[in-house]
Amino acid sequence: MVPELIVSAVGAKLSQESGILELMNDLGETVALRPDMLTLGGGNPAEMPEMQARWRVATERLMADGDAFDKALSHYDAPQGETRFLDAFAALFREKFNVPITRANVAVTSGAQLGAFSLFNLLAGRTKEGRVRKILIPLVPEYVGYADMGIEPGLFVGCPGVITYPDPNDRAIFKYAVDFDAVESALRREDVAAILLSRPTNPSGNLVTREELAKLDALAERYGAFLIVDNAYGGPFPGIVEDEKELESVFWTPRTILFYSLSKIGLPSLRTAMMIASEEIVERVSAMTAILGLANNSLGQRIAFPLVASGEILDVSREIVRPYYRKRRADAIEILRRECARVGLDARLHDSEGAFFLWLWAPQLQCGSKALYRRLKEKGVLAIPGDGFFYGLAESDVELHDPDFERSRTQTLRISFSSSEAVVERGLRVIAETIAEMTTAR
Ligand SMILES: Cc1ncc(COP(=O)(O)O)c(C=O)c1O
Repeated sequence: MVPELIVSAVGAKLSQESGILELMNDLGETVALRPDMLTLGGGNPAEMPEMQARWRVATERLMADGDAFDKALSHYDAPQGETRFLDAFAALFREKFNVPITRANVAVTSGAQLGAFSLFNLLAGRTKEGRVRKILIPLVPEYVGYADMGIEPGLFVGCPGVITYPDPNDRAIFKYAVDFDAVESALRREDVAAILLSRPTNPSGNLVTREELAKLDALAERYGAFLIVDNAYGGPFPGIVEDEKELESVFWTPRTILFYSLSKIGLPSLRTAMMIASEEIVERVSAMTAILGLANNSLGQRIAFPLVASGEILDVSREIVRPYYRKRRADAIEILRRECARVGLDARLHDSEGAFFLWLWAPQLQCGSKALYRRLKEKGVLAIPGDGFFYGLAESDVELHDPDFERSRTQTLRISFSSSEAVVERGLRVIAETIAEMTTAR
């Protein structure tokens, strides 16, 4: 007889329905079962032919290099990562960006996702002394993949982004700004271990400015917190940002913890990310890697090694990845504008400063973005409903004064433009038509 499955509270929390599970299941299902689906959903990077060629050459070189390939397949690395790769990665940041680190400050993890899980649960939650520490998200909406990472419930405290309009006469483009009063009040109220943001932000493509970053860092210092910056899409690589200056320098202070990943530069399946942090944090995260997964994928580190050691990873970001996504972004915005105009839909777009998503807000959408997501799926289009990116707010007693922000929580859609041009064009057409059909304003 099969015994009854009685799950622990932790097991229940980590295996519950979650935004990120739905998103990843959708992605896997479309690849395997519904190849005809127009995928404007998950966080898969584009298939950039020039980058694919680079990775192919790097892999061929590894295979031709004596027994290096066999060794990469047949040996576990140390949990922190492979020594040569760690050295090369630290040297890149030290020599090109004056970040004073050695390999003792770098932890490889099986993707930034697992690195974030280890780090957040290391820093936040209940301490042995009974303190309940939190991760503060200064600008919600933020990456849905963090939302359920806490082993303990209520790990995140979020502050709603302030909706601003860069051109006050034109509501077609909006932008979230950090509400520093709300951030400071949360820092006073809660026991905050770290301030966390993705930059550029998944989902909105917001690039929190360097000035805002410096202010957050000053607050982190004042309140004894770390500042975690997730550069999954940012500079200096993969460089999926509009502002070229982002590729020229790295924001670093003794409090910052930086995430980088090989995923968005074309290697998501190799599950390899790098965290830059204090030696103490790196030691602990590496110890967690040993428990959670013994070691990391060796192939990602070996294949990327020559590009990291030579600095070529910076050149390809500047010369291939950034221009590629800039064009895709401009094309997607133009198509969406055209399609919205065609169906008479008055939708708002977040200023797209980086990453590969358009963040669409349809103020007329009364039925909610989940209903929109389901209707789109029926029509063969995948896009992500915005709701899941708004979290941490219930735990916060920050007054949600702005009714626009409140409404927008169920009126937003994250649209990826990393699929082929034809898929994105057809998908955007269906999205505009479907929202127009579902809105009451018509
Ligand atoms: C902001 C952000 N951080 C982290 C990740 C996870 O990246 P990785 O593939 O390195 O686990 C993603 C993936 O989409 C992301 O969007």
